[in-house]
Amino acid sequence: MDLDQDMMARLKPGCICQGIRLHRLIEAVDTGADSFEAVARLTGIGNGSCGGRRCRKKVEELLARRRGER
Ligand code: FES
Repeated sequence: MDLDQDMMARLKPGCICQGIRLHRLIEAVDTGADSFEAVARLTGIGNGSCGGRRCRKKVEELLARRRGER
């Protein structure tokens, strides 16, 4: 991730319900989290009012990108 991407990830929401930024989700995937549940354990996402519907989609995109699918 270059500097501009890193800065944007620090500003963008990862889990809107719980106020967790996108860069936290990226860090979790970079350190080996390989499922939504693993990212949720590391970051605390998924227990907000949407029940994880919104942040699950972001995590699944990050995991697919990590696997080279996107
Ligand atoms: S966006 Fe993460 S729980 Fe709603």
